[in-house]
Amino acid sequence: MASSAATPQVPTSTATPKLSVVRSISKNVDAQIAFCEVVDDQPQLIGSAAANQIVNKQLGGSLVAKAQQLGFTGKPGSLALLPSTPLVAVVGVESGNSPESLRRASGAATRAIVGTQADDKSVTIGVELAADDAEQVKACAEGIILGAYSYAKVSSTPKPAAVTAIEIASGISASQAKEAVRIATVIADNVLLARDWVNTPPNVLYPASFAEAASTALRAAKVNVEVLDDQALVAGGYGGIVAVGGGSNRLPRLLRAAHAPRGARFHLALVGKGITFDTGGLDLKSAEGMYTMKNDMSGAAAVIAATRAIAELGLAIKVTSYAAMAENMPSGSAYRPSDVLTMYGGMTVENVNSDAEGRLVMADALARASDDKPDLVIDVATLTGACVVALGLRVAGLMTSDDETAAMILDAAELTGEDFWQLPIPQHLRASLDSKVADLRSGGARHGGALTAAAFLQRFVGELPWAHLDIAGPAFNDEGPYDYVPTGGTGHAVRTLVALAASLAS
Ligand code: BES
Ligand code: ZN
Ligand code: ZN
Repeated sequence: MASSAATPQVPTSTATPKLSVVRSISKNVDAQIAFCEVVDDQPQLIGSAAANQIVNKQLGGSLVAKAQQLGFTGKPGSLALLPSTPLVAVVGVESGNSPESLRRASGAATRAIVGTQADDKSVTIGVELAADDAEQVKACAEGIILGAYSYAKVSSTPKPAAVTAIEIASGISASQAKEAVRIATVIADNVLLARDWVNTPPNVLYPASFAEAASTALRAAKVNVEVLDDQALVAGGYGGIVAVGGGSNRLPRLLRAAHAPRGARFHLALVGKGITFDTGGLDLKSAEGMYTMKNDMSGAAAVIAATRAIAELGLAIKVTSYAAMAENMPSGSAYRPSDVLTMYGGMTVENVNSDAEGRLVMADALARASDDKPDLVIDVATLTGACVVALGLRVAGLMTSDDETAAMILDAAELTGEDFWQLPIPQHLRASLDSKVADLRSGGARHGGALTAAAFLQRFVGELPWAHLDIAGPAFNDEGPYDYVPTGGTGHAVRTLVALAASLAS
C-alpha cells in the first residue's frame, strides 16, 4: 500500500510562479507566448521578434505563416502551438490590446502550453509584450498566473506546479513593469487561494477548518481576525447561522477580519456566504443539484481573499469582512421548514424552505456588519439557482437600491473583465416577504427568486448603502476551461472587489 497517502489540508497560501521583468527573454525558457492581431484580414505579429526568429530558424518560415498552416487566424481566441524549442504559443488578441483581451489570450496560451506537458513536469514561460502601459503588463501577468492554475488533486502522488517561472519583456520602463507585476501577483495569488478553497473537498474544508485556514492566511497579511464558534454564536444571538449550521456535526463559525490602516477615509464592509456544503437540509436537493454544492462557500472565499489582497497591496481603505460559515445538513437537529428564527439584531424570520439557507446566514452577518456603521456594505453569495437561470453561468447578478453604488461596482468589474449585470429589487417582491407568524418570511414569490432573495437581505442592512452580488453561476465552472478560467472554482468577484477598494482608496 502507498505510504501515507497525502493527508489533505486546507491551503493557506498558493505556489504562484515567480515573475520577473527582463529586457529580453532568456534562451532557456521552455515556452514563449507571442501575440497577434488581425490587420487587413491577415494575422500580424505584435512585437515578439524573438519568437519569430526562433520559429524562422528552426521551422523554416515566419511564425505567422507556420501558425496559419495550423489553422491560426489571429482572431481573439485563435491559438497555435509551434513545435520549436522553446515551444511557441501564438495567440490572437483584439486590436488595441485591451487589458481583458490580453488577460484572456495570455491565459489561453498558458493553458495550451501546460496542456502539452506531462503531469509531473513544470515549465518556465517567456512573454515578449508590445505594451505601452502598465495595465497591459498587469493583465498579461494576471492571465498567465490565472491560466496556469489547476487544483492539485488530493492524491498519493502529488504533482509539481505546472508553471514555475515567468519572464516578461515589455515596452514600458523596468520600474513601471515591476510595479505592475507586483500588483498582478498579489491579486492573482489571492484569486488562486479562493479557487483552492472552493475546490477543496467538503470533508476537508468545513466551517472550523475553513475558519482556521482563512485566519492563518489573513494573519500572514497582518489582518486582524476574530472567529466566533458555535457557542459564541448562540450567546451572541446569531439565530440564522445557528439554525442552518445546527443540522451538521461540523458546527458553524462566523469570521470577522479587519484591515484598518491609519488615515483611511472610507470604510467598506464585505460579507460572504460560506456554506461549506449545501445538501438543501430537510428540503433535500437532488443528487444532480447537490454534487457541486461544495462551491456554496465561494462568496466567503471571495471576500476573505479580496481582504487579504487589499491588505497585501496596502490599500488606504478600512475593510471589515464577515464570512458566515455553516454546513447545511439534514439530521435530527436540523432546522425545519416553518421554524421561526430570531436573527442577530432581533428580527424574526419564518423559514419557508431549508434549502434557502444562504439568506439566513447572510442576514445575521449583514446585521452584524451594519453595527460597525460602514460607508458601504457589499455581500457576495452563491445565493440562488434563479440567478443562474436569469444570467447563465458566466455572469453574476448585482442588486442594490443605490444607482451610484451600482455604477461604481460595474466600473470596477469592467476593469477586471469579470461580468456582472444589474437586476432590480421591485417593490412588490418586498411585500411578498410578509409572514403570518414572524416579522418576515425567508422566501416569497416563486418567480424572480434572485430578486426576492435580494429584497430579503436588504431588510438586514437598514438604510446603509448596500449591494448584493449573486455569483451562483460564475463561481464554479463545470463546463470545461476557457481563457484564464479553469474547471472548478473560479474566484469570481475577488478581482472586482479589489479594484473597487483601490478606486475607493485613491
Ligand atoms: N446554494 C443554492 C443556490 C445555488 C444553486 C448556487 C445553483 C449555485 C448553483 C441555494 O442555497 C439554494 O438552494 N437556493 C434555492 C432557494 C429556494 C429554495 C428559495 C434555489 O435557488 O433553488
Ligand atoms: Zn440551499
Ligand atoms: Zn446554498
